[in-house]
Parts: sequence; C-alpha cells; structure tokens
Amino acid sequence: MKLTQPQLRLLDGHQGPIIQRLMRLLVRLGEVYGADHMLEIGSAQVSGISYKSIGDPGLEFLEDVAAAGVKVQVLTFLNPAGMDLRDWHSLGFPADFAVQQERIISAFAQMGAATSATCTPYLAGNLPCFGEHLAWSESSAVSFANSVLGARTNREGGPSALAAAICGCTPNYGLHLIENRQPTVAVKVETVLTSDADFGALGYYVGERVKDGIPYFTGISAAGVDNLKALGAAMAASGAVALYHIQGVTPEAHSVKSSAFESLKVGPKELESVYRQLNTGEQPDLYVLGCPHASLKQVFELAKKLQGKKLNKPLWICTSRMVKEMAAQMGWTKHIEEAGGRVVADTCMVVSPIERMGFKTVAVDSGKAANYLPSFCGQKVLFRSVDELLKQALS
Ligand code: F3S
Repeated sequence: MKLTQPQLRLLDGHQGPIIQRLMRLLVRLGEVYGADHMLEIGSAQVSGISYKSIGDPGLEFLEDVAAAGVKVQVLTFLNPAGMDLRDWHSLGFPADFAVQQERIISAFAQMGAATSATCTPYLAGNLPCFGEHLAWSESSAVSFANSVLGARTNREGGPSALAAAICGCTPNYGLHLIENRQPTVAVKVETVLTSDADFGALGYYVGERVKDGIPYFTGISAAGVDNLKALGAAMAASGAVALYHIQGVTPEAHSVKSSAFESLKVGPKELESVYRQLNTGEQPDLYVLGCPHASLKQVFELAKKLQGKKLNKPLWICTSRMVKEMAAQMGWTKHIEEAGGRVVADTCMVVSPIERMGFKTVAVDSGKAANYLPSFCGQKVLFRSVDELLKQALS
C-alpha cells in the first residue's frame, strides 16, 4: 500500500507501540482486501461498548489504550453501552455491571471520544455528507450512512473502527469505491408498508435472502427517516446488507448502470411470514421501542399517544442522550413517565443485560431487535407495529 509520510510514521512506531499496532491492523486489512492507499475519514463510530458484549478482556484492552495516552484524531462516536449512563440505578440495572460499564466509558473519554453511546449518530450531532468517507461499525448506522446519506463506509468491526479513529484513516476498499456500490439484487415490493415494523419485516425478509448483497428496491413510493432506519437495521441483522437503494428515494438509486441482476418479489404473504417467524411470545413483561434509537420525532409522537394514559407494563423508549435531553426539556418525558414509561438513553434492549433484570418476554416494533433478542438475551418476542403494541399496553 502507498502510505503518506505521516502514515508511515504511525507505522514505524514513532508515536508509540499502541498506535503502531493499530496502524498495522489497518494496513493488514487493506492488503487483504486489495486497497492501494488510505483515505482520510470524516468521523469514526465504534461498536463493542457494552460490558455485556466485550467483558473484562475488552475493558482491559481499552484501559491499556487509554493509559498509553493515545487520542482519537477525528470525531468519534460510540455505539450503545449496556445501560443508561445516568439513570441506570432507577431503571434497575445491576450495580456490579454498572461499575464495569463506567470504566469502559471512562477509557473512551480519556481517548477523546464523544461518549455519545448511540446507534443513530446521524440524529445526534454527527451527520456526514454525501461522498464523505467514514469508519463506522454499528451495522444499522453503516446502512443508513451509505444508503440514505450517500456517505461511504465499510461495516467496520470495533477494533478496526477504533484503529481508524486513532490513526485518522481507513483503507480504500469495499464500499469506499464507487464501482462496488452497484446493486446486486432487484427487490420488487408488492405490498403497502404502513409502519416502521412493516419496513423492519421487509428488511428482515430481504436481508435473510440477499446476505451481503446490495438490494435495489422498487415499489416503495414514500419512506421517512424512521422507516429507512428500520429497514436498514433489519437487513443488516438478518443478513449483512451495508448498502441499499430505493428507486426515487435514496440518493444513489439513479446511478444504477445495469438491470442484469437477480430479482426478488415481496408481497403481503412474505411480510406475514416474517411476523409469524419472529413472534415467539404473547404476554410481554417489558415493551421496548427505539431500535434503532428513537428519533426526536418518534419520542414526540409517543409522548402524544401516552399523554393522560396508563400503561399496564413497563415501557422503555431507547434513544440517544441528546434526544433524551431535548424530550425532557420539552416536557414530553413527563407525559411518558406519568403513563408509566421511561425514556432510556445510551443503551438498548439487546446490548443491556435485561436477562439479568428478570425479563422473559419483550415486545418490540423492530425487525432487528426481534432478530437478536432470543439469541443475545434469551427473550421471547412480541413483534408488532407501535400502534398495535400500545393498544395492548394501554388496555
Ligand atoms: Fe441500536 Fe440496539 Fe437496535 S444498538 S440498532 S437499538 S439492537
């Protein structure tokens, strides 16, 4: 690989052994995938933040990096942690878990990362522009950045995103190259999608079939930000889709050069089959919305729906710290809390230790959460639209 003088200095150990190790990782990655140089990145987003996911070995590694005085070179956001970093106690998170989680966050803070802990950095102050190169690792955020914003990032692992954050660059391969952003599968949608859950169900169905391909959707006449984040998150969970195009909706859809790829049709029957497959429980002991993390608009809409009502079971709305603070400032949190719900920041139902908190069945409106809750958290799942879930929770 052709490296610049400053990049060579990182590699030859001038900045210390940890930076040398991280730069070696990036160079090796580039060599494996045929990159010929490094790209400067606009920002990094690092996954593997929850103590539940990385345990003591991950925590010790991060503390070693932080103790060496290493700092990030670009704006670096973090994926959700294992708990609400301020309200963990009142939400019932275990104290022994909280101690270790706080150490992880402190290590990142010492490195200069923004302790943002969200899977929707683009809704919380880190909005990349079209064509900007990134090193992000949360799969739903990668999908959103590539597909909806037209930015360019591979689906980084936690270590390679951290290496990119610290070295300020990433190898130019994969989705950084325009020629690799063409669709591989045409998906004709022959049903009306009426909720984020429907978009998630569609994403789940398509992701399972196209794996790491690039779908090109037709038949979706309109889709908002929340629909698109639900769609991309589910495709990245049941498959490994990191980029999709929707005719007339996403910014690179018009640059499709060929139609000579395989095709898939999704109608009401296919969507129904996903709901059947993902629904494994009936009576939830916890309702959790906000996967990916709820937008301000979603929190606003939920507050309106909950105002003056009473929930029959706990409800969490997972979101970023920025959205949580704005919701509190606007009085929306008060409506949610008076109904018996909570706005929960910095974490989500999948990366938090809910299995240790006594929950057995969780209700969600997210195809991604429905996919991971059984295997990551040992939960049964009720998967429905928000309106259907609220009807049950308010009855
Ligand atoms: Fe985000 Fe957790 Fe869903 S990280 S995308 S809310 S599983």
